[in-house]
Amino acid sequence: MRHPVIAGNWKMYKTIAEAVRFIDVLKPKVASANHCEVVVAPPFTALKAVAEAARSSNIQVAAQDVSWEKEGAFTGDVSASMLREAGCTHVIIGHSERRQYHHETDERVNRKLKAALAGDLTPIVCVGETLEEREAGRTQAVLERQFTEGFAALTAQDFSRIIIAYEPVWAIGTGRTATPEIAAESHRALRSLIVKQFGGEVAEQTRILYGGSVKPDNIQGLMAQEEIDGALVGGASLKADSFSAIVNYL
Ligand code: PGA
Repeated sequence: MRHPVIAGNWKMYKTIAEAVRFIDVLKPKVASANHCEVVVAPPFTALKAVAEAARSSNIQVAAQDVSWEKEGAFTGDVSASMLREAGCTHVIIGHSERRQYHHETDERVNRKLKAALAGDLTPIVCVGETLEEREAGRTQAVLERQFTEGFAALTAQDFSRIIIAYEPVWAIGTGRTATPEIAAESHRALRSLIVKQFGGEVAEQTRILYGGSVKPDNIQGLMAQEEIDGALVGGASLKADSFSAIVNYL
């Protein structure tokens, strides 16, 4: 039985003060959620304050990106050990917005996730096809490329520390959720890629989250799919009421 993960991706929202207030309100609302892991991903500036506000609660903290380097002349980048020091346990890697606006390639995703693993962070690696790719019948091929290149040269033991988020790009921020069946189909395709590359046991344990317009009113249908092991939530994670309703989907 895989332990689900519900993660909130705040993107470029919330000042430090807003973020801390949010955690104070969220804490009691999710305190009894033992059925899943709860993760929030604030912007870099609020990470430390959020980690402190969430201390001794069941809320874990993720960054939204990480450098593949340990340190050096890389203006604007933040290393895994810096994130760890700020209180992060997780990091989102390869989100479609970073692929779209920051030239994030599968090769960079691969380097970043190795840096995250070396820095003792749990990578939440995003994959997913665009609308154009889906309509051209290329979903499976895109997932296969993202998987093979993104997870290249990893041992099964390394891979077993990774969480995957399947996020069809056409469903992100559009209000257009993939149906639970469409999502589950891609999750199954990903899981069979894991079987091929890392073996059945690792595949059985890997959490694959769904992301793309997850809301309180569609989370139950998604989580009813055996293949779906949680959610990466954008817009609906910004309000404590809607995020806690998603966390408490049972
Ligand atoms: P959304 O974003 O829930 O607002 O569609 C999901 C994501 O980008 O991770």
